[in-house]
Amino acid sequence: MTSKLLVFGGNGFLGRRICQEAVHRGLEVISISRSGKPPVLNSPLRERNWIREVCWESADVLNPSTYRRHLKGASGVVHSLGILLEDESYKRKLKQESGSANSPSYSWASWLPSIGSNPLIKNDPNFTYEVINKQSAITLARAFANTIEREGIDSEDLPTFTYISADRGFPMIPEGYINSKRQAEEELLRHKDVFRPIIMRPGFLFDEMKGPQNTRTHIHHLLEFLNMSNKALLGGNFECINGIIRPAVSIQQVSRCILSKITDPKFEGIVPLEVIKEA
Ligand SMILES: NC(=O)c1ccc[n+]([C@@H]2O[C@H](COP(=O)([O-])OP(=O)(O)OC[C@H]3O[C@@H](n4cnc5c(N)ncnc54)[C@H](OP(=O)(O)O)[C@@H]3O)[C@@H](O)[C@H]2O)c1
Repeated sequence: MTSKLLVFGGNGFLGRRICQEAVHRGLEVISISRSGKPPVLNSPLRERNWIREVCWESADVLNPSTYRRHLKGASGVVHSLGILLEDESYKRKLKQESGSANSPSYSWASWLPSIGSNPLIKNDPNFTYEVINKQSAITLARAFANTIEREGIDSEDLPTFTYISADRGFPMIPEGYINSKRQAEEELLRHKDVFRPIIMRPGFLFDEMKGPQNTRTHIHHLLEFLNMSNKALLGGNFECINGIIRPAVSIQQVSRCILSKITDPKFEGIVPLEVIKEA
């Protein structure tokens, strides 16, 4: 049972590739975001045809009354929104960088919390790990579970709920990040009798499509270098180092892996980084 897929955060960095992969597999796809706008892509026109196949809707994940009608008859929901830092300025900078073909010269310092943020710009009080990473997923899961229960449960063919969690914390990132992800996972796994929870644990994400050099590409190259050095010099034999230097994974791999788990009626549970890397 996988024909109507709702992707919350479907216009985001990862969400857009999930939508694209789902369209290629013949699913009806609805993207939900506050703006309700499709992503702006620099790829050639013929590679952007899938955008017309997606229904781009506006709603707030924290307010189920804005999207309840879309949940009806949905065979799957994907929650693809979250924050790495509780400082909104980093998202604005990433968006600016990816939206511009001639990316502004990047600065590591300006990307880090509190160093480059403008004190005159007020932060959204909901922009916390607790609300965005955890409560938004729980709110969506409860709304979806209620809808499924009202429509009647077919235990042979449960709908899916996919949550984009994370492999582990990143150096210099507060523990609240990974803790909020793990707490959300725990809560979602409790709904197993109503939907099939699929918990994705990717590492740092990059796009396989070559674009302008920006903060994401620099971090990706740094991680590749560290991983190669770890393998070449230490043979990847030291668990403590392997635990810190984790491989990056592409948004295309994550999306392929998500769709393969959604379409496998027997799968439920956690998908670790090592499995995602094989997709
Ligand atoms: N990026 C990484 O390296 C990485 C690594 C590991 C895990 N992850 C996880 O992967 C997931 C996706 O990350 P991403 O980098 O693709 O995020 P992103 O680019 O920030 O995309 C999230 C999208 O969610 C939408 N959104 C935000 N608040 C919303 C709300 N209240 N209601 C509805 N839509 C809302 C936003 O669109 P609007 O502004 O239009 O609402 C945005 O386009 C997250 O859970 C993240 O923690 C990311």
